[in-house]
Amino acid sequence: MENFVFYNPVKILFGKGQIANIAAEIPAEAKILITYGGGSIKTNGVYDQVKAALAGRNVFEFGGIEPNPHLETLLKAVELIRKESIDFILAVGGGSVVDGTKFIAAAVPFKGDPWDILAKGAPVTAAVPFGAVLTLPATGSEMNTGSVVTKWETQEKLFFTSPLVFPRFSVLDPETTYSLPPRQISNGIVDAYTHVMEQYLTYPANAPLQDRLAESILKTLIEEGPKTLANPQDYDARANLVWSATLALNGLIGAGVPQDWTTHMIGHELTALHGLDHAQTLAVVLPSTLSIKRDRKWQKLLQYGERVWGIVEGDEEERVNLAIAKTRNFFESVGVRTRLSDYGVGLDTIPVIIDRFEKRGFVALGEHKDVNPQTVEQILTLSA
Ligand code: NZQ
Ligand code: ZN
Repeated sequence: MENFVFYNPVKILFGKGQIANIAAEIPAEAKILITYGGGSIKTNGVYDQVKAALAGRNVFEFGGIEPNPHLETLLKAVELIRKESIDFILAVGGGSVVDGTKFIAAAVPFKGDPWDILAKGAPVTAAVPFGAVLTLPATGSEMNTGSVVTKWETQEKLFFTSPLVFPRFSVLDPETTYSLPPRQISNGIVDAYTHVMEQYLTYPANAPLQDRLAESILKTLIEEGPKTLANPQDYDARANLVWSATLALNGLIGAGVPQDWTTHMIGHELTALHGLDHAQTLAVVLPSTLSIKRDRKWQKLLQYGERVWGIVEGDEEERVNLAIAKTRNFFESVGVRTRLSDYGVGLDTIPVIIDRFEKRGFVALGEHKDVNPQTVEQILTLSA
């Protein structure tokens, strides 16, 4: 096992009715800004619950944060917070609202152009405190330090991380997710699944506990995901899906083990250039990444095949092929297509993506840092 530091201070309020308890988590005198997305919280009752919980408090609102949140929109919230001297933010929505709020929180005290936080890795030295009410299980943003923001003007989608943007608390009430359309439930399953794979499907690192934690999350997603799709009001299935998605990317399973993230880095470009949902890009890229990097992932592919999919028959090559095929089939079975052509994206996107990586100063990807532009080309070609 590699050395690691594990730190995760996010307080989780899990379960039915937990929104009612948020007032106690926010300083009594705080000027609060509620941030939200395109309006789903107004139709599913979440907004009303939040407003009721904060009755009598000093509350401002900022709506309209898009999926794959736009820098241009978020900067308007930064302006509002500075103008009104707001000192606590409450993000209410999916990963985009939470990610967008992390950026807002870091941008408010930032001196200079806040885009530098993403484009130049400018250090975050302070952030406005915030909490989250999560309505879409997928990203893990509710319990991690990551944020992905899109600059609409240039169609760039970049990320930053900082321990200063851990939420102070996150409410996970599975009932708030009942109103999700099937596409977003499916996206959440695939995103969480891929988060686990990015941290697990690398090479053996003598970390059997992390391996088994990862395998447990994968198996839970395989069991509970389809149940949730079939019966959206099944509380237990939904609760298990929500908690799986959070644990998939809160730092726990990735502590002390090598990590890949090739699929995500390529996926962000597909979203930025072609507007695919985040999870759609992952469903396209992950099976190809596993195929192209199979030699270096061989032992873990065998282990994954056996422990997650029960594959014990056949020679090693057959088992590896089947493990990858099962992954693709699972994504398709929960309703997320796995080919670029399913989304009308042609191979002419490949040189554009590689050019972008190179202009940013290509840093080799993957657990061995051996995914170079040529590998990216192979992966995307196989994703056609
Ligand atoms: O905007 P509203 O009206 O709220 O509608 C949203 C949006 O249209 C809707 N929705 C959310 N909760 C709902 C609901 N509709 C009905 N009922 C509910 N309860 O769902 C749509 C998608 O929402 P979004 O927040 O964009 O989805 P998701 O949670 O999948 O977030 C995706 C973003 O997170 C980033 C992605 O790149 C993408 O920008 N990620 C963040 C990560 C992190 N912070 O660690 C890691 C991930 O790998 C990912 O990159
Ligand atoms: Zn993801």
